[in-house]
Amino acid sequence: MRQKLLNEGAKELSYEIREIVKKADQLRKLGINIFWENIGDPIQKNAEVPAWMKEIIANLVMDNKTYSYCHSKGILATREFLADINNKREGAKVSAEDILFFNGTGDAIAKIYQYLNFTARVIGPSPAYSTHSSAEAAHAHQEPLTYKLDPNNHWYPDIDDLYKKIKYNPNVVGILIINPDNPTGMVYPLDSLKKIVQIAREFKLMLISDEIYMNITYNGARAYSLAEVIEDVPGIAIKGISKEFPWPGSRCGWMEFYNRDKDHQFHKLCSAMENAKMLEVCSTTLPQLSIPKIMGDPRYIPYREDANKKIGNRSKLIADILGSIPELKFNETYGAFYNTIIFKDGVLKNGQTLPIENPEAKQLVEHWTKDENMNKDKRFVYYLLASTGICVVPISSFCSELQGFRVTLLEENEEVLRSVFTRLRNAIIEYIHSSPMITGEKELKLAKI
Ligand SMILES: Cc1ncc(COP(=O)(O)O)c(C=O)c1O
Repeated sequence: MRQKLLNEGAKELSYEIREIVKKADQLRKLGINIFWENIGDPIQKNAEVPAWMKEIIANLVMDNKTYSYCHSKGILATREFLADINNKREGAKVSAEDILFFNGTGDAIAKIYQYLNFTARVIGPSPAYSTHSSAEAAHAHQEPLTYKLDPNNHWYPDIDDLYKKIKYNPNVVGILIINPDNPTGMVYPLDSLKKIVQIAREFKLMLISDEIYMNITYNGARAYSLAEVIEDVPGIAIKGISKEFPWPGSRCGWMEFYNRDKDHQFHKLCSAMENAKMLEVCSTTLPQLSIPKIMGDPRYIPYREDANKKIGNRSKLIADILGSIPELKFNETYGAFYNTIIFKDGVLKNGQTLPIENPEAKQLVEHWTKDENMNKDKRFVYYLLASTGICVVPISSFCSELQGFRVTLLEENEEVLRSVFTRLRNAIIEYIHSSPMITGEKELKLAKI
């Protein structure tokens, strides 16, 4: 090529949640049965979309109008319906004009960072959900900028850390909230949200709140939407149906703009995204048509309550199985369908292993883990995968210095769930108590003999 093709930011685009799938596929080809505890797709974990929802969608499929383009911002009646849902609650109000549809929230996230000035940074939570952190980092040609979620305090945001990082970095223009959170399953407490709004006001920042899991809370928790707390600060909520219906293949999500009239720069960013959508023509029509019909159906809220209760039960069951291992930091979850489990400092060491029956798989894992400097949680995850077939994601891949892994709470079959998590528990215990000798320790021991 006459010129370099890629821009510097492209190296920030990595998606370990999918990378681990490549490793699992290699092992699957060697005959290992994989338990996919890594991907947040309820359908892949056998969630059944209710028959009444399928009927609504089937009827739309039979209607010729479904096959056309729609308004570039999204179908007006759907935007009016969603504005109405928001406006029934206390807090910032929106009109249909403040709503913009995308092909999934993933598309919405990419658009925000695409049009942001490249010196302008958005600080997000760590452990970080890579669709946000990678896109933000790629836009800035820098590593992601993060504030800590604290595993010693229910994974709540560390507000002091956030405050300091904003105060001493004038490039920060926005704060990202993922509420409820992926990958920790934490629901932001109201008090933390109010403090975050206060910080945004003090430093003249915008707020971005990914609310794709907003209606997936359980075991007594309630998530507060950005609109309920934002007051006069400019902000964007990102919402979608991938997890809620669940219909991840619909590729349908939207943004709600709050207080667009309060800041000219913010208004210009919202307009740029609207113009970009216009150039693209529009987002997917069929799922947009289904939203008022499905969400407005009297069966929708009871359906969600029941689905949330089931996730809550799984959360408790996982807490019963993994919550008492002394070498782990375990936090019960209250929203979304993930949990991030951390190994206490010093627990993971090079040299720890799990028995792997299949000789080819053993060879492969030894090859993957031969670099002594690789992250120790990644090493654990590879051994776990080859030894038990359980596929989880290392937490060091979520822009975090912590060592741990993310599991999903999606397994519908309770017997399978119990059996997989019991095997996971046994594997954790076996791994951390297996030979911890690294080269230096071995030499020291031999010298003593
Ligand atoms: C926090 C969060 N935001 C956005 C997405 C992407 O969702 P969509 O299917 O709407 O692109 C996910 C998917 O896992 C997610 O966990």
